[in-house]
Amino acid sequence: MTPLRFDVLTLFPGAFTGPLDVSMIRRARESGLVEIALHDIREHATDRHRSVDDYPFGGGQGMVMRVDVLDAALGHVRTLAEPPGHVVYLTPQGEPLTDRVVRQLAHHPRLILVCGRYEGVDERFIEQRVDREISIGDYVLTGGELPAMVLIDAVSRHVPGVLGDEASPADESFADGLLEHPQYTRPAEYHGWKVPEVLLGGDHASIERWRQEQRVERTRARRPDRLPPQESAGQDRHKVGINGVRVRSLNYPADVPALAQLWRAAGYEPGPLDEPRRLAALLDHAPGLAVVAEQAGQVIAAAVAGFDGLQADLYRVAVDPANRRRGIGSALVSTIEDRARQIGCQRIAAAPVTAEMMFLGSLGWREWRGLAYVRDL
Ligand SMILES: C[S@@+](CC[C@H](N)C(=O)[O-])C[C@H]1O[C@@H](n2cnc3c(N)ncnc32)[C@H](O)[C@@H]1O
Repeated sequence: MTPLRFDVLTLFPGAFTGPLDVSMIRRARESGLVEIALHDIREHATDRHRSVDDYPFGGGQGMVMRVDVLDAALGHVRTLAEPPGHVVYLTPQGEPLTDRVVRQLAHHPRLILVCGRYEGVDERFIEQRVDREISIGDYVLTGGELPAMVLIDAVSRHVPGVLGDEASPADESFADGLLEHPQYTRPAEYHGWKVPEVLLGGDHASIERWRQEQRVERTRARRPDRLPPQESAGQDRHKVGINGVRVRSLNYPADVPALAQLWRAAGYEPGPLDEPRRLAALLDHAPGLAVVAEQAGQVIAAAVAGFDGLQADLYRVAVDPANRRRGIGSALVSTIEDRARQIGCQRIAAAPVTAEMMFLGSLGWREWRGLAYVRDL
């Protein structure tokens, strides 16, 4: 398997000794799953003083890292391996490093991380050479080295094999939007502090039910912003409606391959929803409005809607051919309607009018001038 390669451009390669040399990341490097190459930007300075920074044009405090030195460093690093690499600049002005972004980055075989110092880097370097700007939080650090290490650690966990055979990032906080349930280990009682009874009984169904409730409760208490609307209403997360079918929020990107297969089977023409970047943007806006139906761990139907602040739009509904006529499409659409209502949406529409969408009529949707189906919520 090809390893995930990180190239780090920094003025302080020494800062990386330690955090990347212990535990899982060390093992991942030793077993060749992850490669980390550190490059000293200063080696590409050309003047007598080996300067890498200069005063800002227009005045102001601090120094700015020079575009020519950075560009020479990047150009050199690019020649050291294949492919050319996806260039990430760590900056407090970048998009926040979330679980979704981490998973996206893990798809790249090679990431080149640029660590700034001082007041940051010359904007021309960012405009011309950087593919993505990423921040690890709304605070300012003295340099990009710690953010780069955070990114390397988080992304490496998604490389198959890094966490070992049993552990999976899919079980951790944020994987399905929720925080993880609390964990306990031996002793079962300490100073009279007891482990919840249910965990000691060995009844796996009850344990799973308890854990799921804890996930929802924790997320509601600590991070209500991460709750999909259905979970915030505390209703149907583990509801099994139609014989063994579970309706849940779409997981991005885990569900993307199953989704592509469903769309194809339903005969949809490729469109914006087939571009992972566009789908991710839609989900960021209204995460609860994309839902799938799952049976025995397989995605058998999906429906995707968006909300522009005025009305919701149902873009696609597809049910696996072997599972049609079971009311699954209607269950997905009803779930979306409930969730859209909860986020203050008053109307939902679907266009164009097609034979496949006629089932919406049975859900109280009406045809509008032959152009769309609409429903007031
Ligand atoms: C002192 S900061 C520069 C801040 C910059 N003048 C500003 O106000 O946006 C120096 C470097 O630290 C890194 N850095 C600081 N805070 C960061 C954060 N929250 N996330 C990612 N990188 C950060 C960046 O690489 C940045 O170039």
